[in-house]
Amino acid sequence: MVKVITYGTYDMLHYGHIRLLERAKALGDYLIVGVTSDDYDKTRGKINIQQPLEERIEAIRKTGLADKIVVEEYEGQKIDDIKRYGVDIFAIGSDWRGYFDYIGEYCEVVYLERTQGISSSEIRSEKRRVRLGLAGTREENILYKHYQESGYVDGLDVTAICTGNERFYEEFRVDGVSKCQSYEELLDECDAVYLLSHPKTHYREIREALEKGKHVLCEAPLCIGGAEECKELLSLAKQKGLVLMPGIKTAYSTAYSRMLLQLKAGKIGRVVSVDATCTSMLPYELQKKDIGAAWDSICAWGPTAMLPVFDILGTDYKNFDIHSLIYEDTDFDLFSKVDFAYDNGVGTIKVGRGVKSEGELIVSGTKGYIYVPAPWWKMDYFELRAENPADNKRFFYQLDGEGIRHQLVAFTKQINDPENDVISHVDEAVTMAIHQIIGSYYKGDRNQI
Ligand code: CTP
Repeated sequence: MVKVITYGTYDMLHYGHIRLLERAKALGDYLIVGVTSDDYDKTRGKINIQQPLEERIEAIRKTGLADKIVVEEYEGQKIDDIKRYGVDIFAIGSDWRGYFDYIGEYCEVVYLERTQGISSSEIRSEKRRVRLGLAGTREENILYKHYQESGYVDGLDVTAICTGNERFYEEFRVDGVSKCQSYEELLDECDAVYLLSHPKTHYREIREALEKGKHVLCEAPLCIGGAEECKELLSLAKQKGLVLMPGIKTAYSTAYSRMLLQLKAGKIGRVVSVDATCTSMLPYELQKKDIGAAWDSICAWGPTAMLPVFDILGTDYKNFDIHSLIYEDTDFDLFSKVDFAYDNGVGTIKVGRGVKSEGELIVSGTKGYIYVPAPWWKMDYFELRAENPADNKRFFYQLDGEGIRHQLVAFTKQINDPENDVISHVDEAVTMAIHQIIGSYYKGDRNQI
C-alpha cells in the first residue's frame, strides 16, 4: 500500500484545497492529511485564520478524501509523522517548491501544481474590507509601527492618517494613504478609526467617531473622566451597533492568556497578590518644553498594569489607595503606586513616566508564584516558580509585533461579527474598573509623595 501525506491550514476550504487533496490521493492508496493547529499557525506568522482547528478538521473530514487526519503542532513534526506512519510520498502545493526538498531523505517529495486564482487569504480579504484611519499625536514612531502592523491583517487597509506633525511623512514612508489635515477629514475617509492621540482628547474624538457611524479602537484609556464617562461611550457604541474597543496590547499576547489559564487551574495555589510594574523615561524635549503633550504615567501605563490585577483578582476590590509624584507645578504624573485591597488578596501597580524601575510582573500564591521578567507587557515568556527550584517550569510563546497585529485582527473580526463577545480580550468589567481608577486619579483622589 502506498501511503501519501500532505499538510495545510485549510482555512475556509476552497476548491484549490480539494483539487490538491484529490491529486495527492491519486498518487497512492492511503491519504493522511495534516491540519495545522492554531498555535502552530501563530508561531509561523499565520494570524488571520478564520476557522478554529475543529472546524477546519471537520471540513477535511467531510470531503471524504482523507483516510486519516493528524494535527500538526510543531516544527519538524513532518519527519516524525513520515517515520511513524511509514509514509511513501510527501505531497504539497507548488508554492512550496524547493522548501521541502530535505524531506527527500525520508520519502519521495512531490510538488503538485497550485490551482491558480484562489487562496484562503483572498477569501478572507473579500469579506467586507475595513478602511482604517490612524489618528495620533502619540510619539510618531508608535503611529508608524501601527501602520506597519496593519499590513499583516487580512481585510484591513489603512486608508487615512491624521497626525499633527508634518515631519511624520518626511521621516516615515506611508503609501496610498490620505494625509488628512483634520480629524473630521480623517473620519470621512474611513469606516473605523484607531486613536493613538492624547487621552485628554479621546472622549471627544470617540463621541465624534461614533456619531459619524465609525468603529473605534482607542489606545486605553478611552477617557479620563471616570467609569461613568466610559460607560456612556460604551453605551453609545452599543446603541449605534458599533465596536468600541480599548487598546491594551498585552491582552493579546498568547503567553498572557496561557498564564491566566495556569492560574485558573490552581498551579500556584490560591492567588494572594499581584504586583505589576511598568515604567519608561520621557523623551527629553517633552520633559523640558511640552510635558502636557506626553502621556503621563497613569495614562501611559495604568491600563496595562491594572489588566493583570483585575483579570486575576477580579474587579470587586474593597478599596484602593493612590500615591503619586507630580512633576513640578504641572498635573503631570511622573510616578504612581496604586494599592488594591480585596477580601482575599492584594494588588499593586507601579507606573512611571520619567521614573524608572524593573518592569516585572509577579503573581504570588500559596503553592508558588509566577514570574514574568521585564518588559512583562511584551510577554512571550513566564515562569512558574516553586520553593524547590527543580520544580520550576518555564513557558515560552512567541509574540509577534508586540501584540499590535493580534489586537488589529480582533478589532477587524469584531467589526465583522459584532455579537461575538469572546473576541475582545479585555472584559467590559475590567475596562470599567480601569477607568474608575484613572477617573479617581484625575479627580484628585490621590496622595502626593
Ligand atoms: N493549495 C493549492 N491551490 C490553491 C491554494 C492552496 O494547491 N489555490 C494547496 C497549498 O499549496 C497547500 C494546501 O493547498 O499544499 C493547503 O494550503 P493552505 O496554505 O492551507 O491554503 P492557502 O489558500 O494557500 O492559504 P493562505 O492563503 O492562507 O496561504
